[in-house]
Amino acid sequence: SKPKVYVTRIIPEPGLSMLKECCDIELHNSKEWPPSREELIQKVKDKDALLCLLTDKIDAEVMDSAPNLRVISTYSVGFDHIDIPEATKRGIYVTHTPGVLTDAVAEFTVGLILAVTRRIVEADKIIRTGQWDKPWNPYFLTGPELKGKTIGLVGLGRIGVATAKRLSSFDVKILYYDVERRWDVESVLNMEYADLDTLLKESDIVSVHVPLTKDTFHLINEERLRKMKKTAYLINTARGPVVDTNALVKALKEGWIAGAALDVFEQEPLPADHPLTKFDNVILAPHIASATIEARQRMAELAARNLIAVLKGEMPPALVNKEVLKVRPLEKVKM
Ligand code: GLV
Ligand code: GLV
Repeated sequence: SKPKVYVTRIIPEPGLSMLKECCDIELHNSKEWPPSREELIQKVKDKDALLCLLTDKIDAEVMDSAPNLRVISTYSVGFDHIDIPEATKRGIYVTHTPGVLTDAVAEFTVGLILAVTRRIVEADKIIRTGQWDKPWNPYFLTGPELKGKTIGLVGLGRIGVATAKRLSSFDVKILYYDVERRWDVESVLNMEYADLDTLLKESDIVSVHVPLTKDTFHLINEERLRKMKKTAYLINTARGPVVDTNALVKALKEGWIAGAALDVFEQEPLPADHPLTKFDNVILAPHIASATIEARQRMAELAARNLIAVLKGEMPPALVNKEVLKVRPLEKVKM
């Protein structure tokens, strides 16, 4: 019989068809809603593989209920919703979808930077609410020009690099901070390395591109927000908990920074009455930085390829926990 797979959402084609071809799939039949925790725990019981989304928390309890589980393939680049050490301990391969959404996120980041500095969302709202009630004047809805400004990238992985590449055409100075110095891209893209405090002090735009880990939780906290320029903007397309939301609200209220553009939040979905919705100088997006049609298709294809490779006993294209190879070597599951 074919390997059994639980898929927690209707993912885009060609992902679903690829899985159907070689696996016996049980699908949580919704494009919008995740399974409940009870359902997830129940459904994985007899499965060899799990294809999940970032909305599914995959912890020790879920893994314990799935003794046959070989692979957790997440339809996302981020894997902070999966307990990686617990998976590795059990010999479960964890895979993700890096690379295929990099350009989509970088494009969106540039969009947010332009939107927040040039007040595009605010401008649209002003017309719709009948506030464009005076003729053209030199002071209406002005914001900073990017040219000549300093942009600080916190985290220089694939997305950070792709963002730098796009921003370099704006004639800006680019600083980056990362736990690893990236000599290779640094010289090619004409960027300067800075420690985090220097980057925060000198940047006119600070854009976050680190994964969420225990080391990056609340990396941008009150103390760090206080280091930013009063004229600077904070952009977050990474993960909500990298920024301390309460500290950010305080920073905006008290004018420590000029504004923010956020695609991710500590609480998702963000309720309409959240304090962050009260600021005109904040742009809010509902976790859509990777939401191009192309990226979402390629994510599905890569998530399917990852999962199928592990079941075939082959090296998956994007393995998260390389140490698992020592715990349980690659081995073909009945297919
Ligand atoms: C989206 O946030 C992802 O991790 O792919
Ligand atoms: C995601 O693709 C990253 O920057 O690691």
